[in-house]
Amino acid sequence: MTTKLEFVDLKSQYAALKVRMAERMQRVLDHGQYIMGPEVKELEDQLARYTGAKHCVTVASGTEALLIALMALGLKPGDEVITTPFTFAATAEMIVLLGGVPVFVDIEPDTCNIDATLIEARVTARTVAIMPVSLYGQVADMDAINAIAVRHGLAVIEDAAQSFGATYRGRKSCNLATFGCTSFFPSKPLGCYGDGGAMFTNDDRLAQACREIRVHGQSARYVHTRVGVGGRMDTLQCAVVLAKLERFEWEIAQRLALGRRYAELLADLPGVTLLGVRADRDCVWAQYTVLVERRAEVQADLLAQGIPTAVHYPKPVHHQPAYAQPGGAENCPVSVAAGARVLSLPMSADLSHADQERVVRALRAALAT
Ligand SMILES: Cc1ncc(COP(=O)(O)O)c(C=O)c1O
Repeated sequence: MTTKLEFVDLKSQYAALKVRMAERMQRVLDHGQYIMGPEVKELEDQLARYTGAKHCVTVASGTEALLIALMALGLKPGDEVITTPFTFAATAEMIVLLGGVPVFVDIEPDTCNIDATLIEARVTARTVAIMPVSLYGQVADMDAINAIAVRHGLAVIEDAAQSFGATYRGRKSCNLATFGCTSFFPSKPLGCYGDGGAMFTNDDRLAQACREIRVHGQSARYVHTRVGVGGRMDTLQCAVVLAKLERFEWEIAQRLALGRRYAELLADLPGVTLLGVRADRDCVWAQYTVLVERRAEVQADLLAQGIPTAVHYPKPVHHQPAYAQPGGAENCPVSVAAGARVLSLPMSADLSHADQERVVRALRAALAT
């Protein structure tokens, strides 16, 4: 019988961290400050130091981070935010939730990140922000995007849900824009054991706004200065991330090396197109994604060989019923084409070379049938 590989191997990660994880979590159970306990600030300090950003504010999820960032910027109904349709729905969802209008700009065919050269033509008098996504763990052309934002007086929110730990021109993802928003969903490069997220900024006023918004807009206990949300990250989840940070540098090095190794092993495989990684940045491969033809058949064949795969994402957001815009379905053809071909292979810091070779052998066999 073929054994099934893990798509994201969190079990090996837990085995490596078991003792420290138990200590970290026990400490929280002993002091009992489950909400806004000391681990919250400890984690925020460590993450701010890691990214180089002046402020880190932990929040309940990556989705909540995007919501709070838009609220802190004062997004109003009818305001436009330029973003990519080739992302998880949460990116556009939070814009729409606040009454804003996502303006979808197509992606580059090789990186699947927003095509910065197409952004400026879509800026209007109603545009307030640009929200690029660092898809699969690679930052988009952030310097070009920031330059457009400066020219038009816009904010930039990096949806860095998939890219914590990535580097762009010597700087860290999450510290490249007005806001960087990340997710600690368990399968992300830095995950917790439930939901969690964080936002980063160098702006004191915006950081204060975020801190207030995440606790129902309170500037002091029972002083509700603004409308907010219940958006805190639990102390226990902060303790989990603190334990995981102890080997995070090793994990990022592993992810980078495994990404390079996948590229070498897959280089001569007909029917597989690798995604491009720009020379001035890296990709931490939240998902190791390639482009293939006949995807459904390839996936079924791989599964029969014990190799689980996933599709991030089959349909761009502007083709989803909730986000369809008049005349919008035909837009962004590169995103639509990518949605039909992307395939994510097993990836995690603990993926062994033997298992990685097994994935590539299975893919070779699937493509040959
Ligand atoms: C690009 C992107 N944005 C936002 C999110 C939302 O993060 P969370 O699941 O922590 O709410 C995700 C998570 O899947 C994501 O991949």
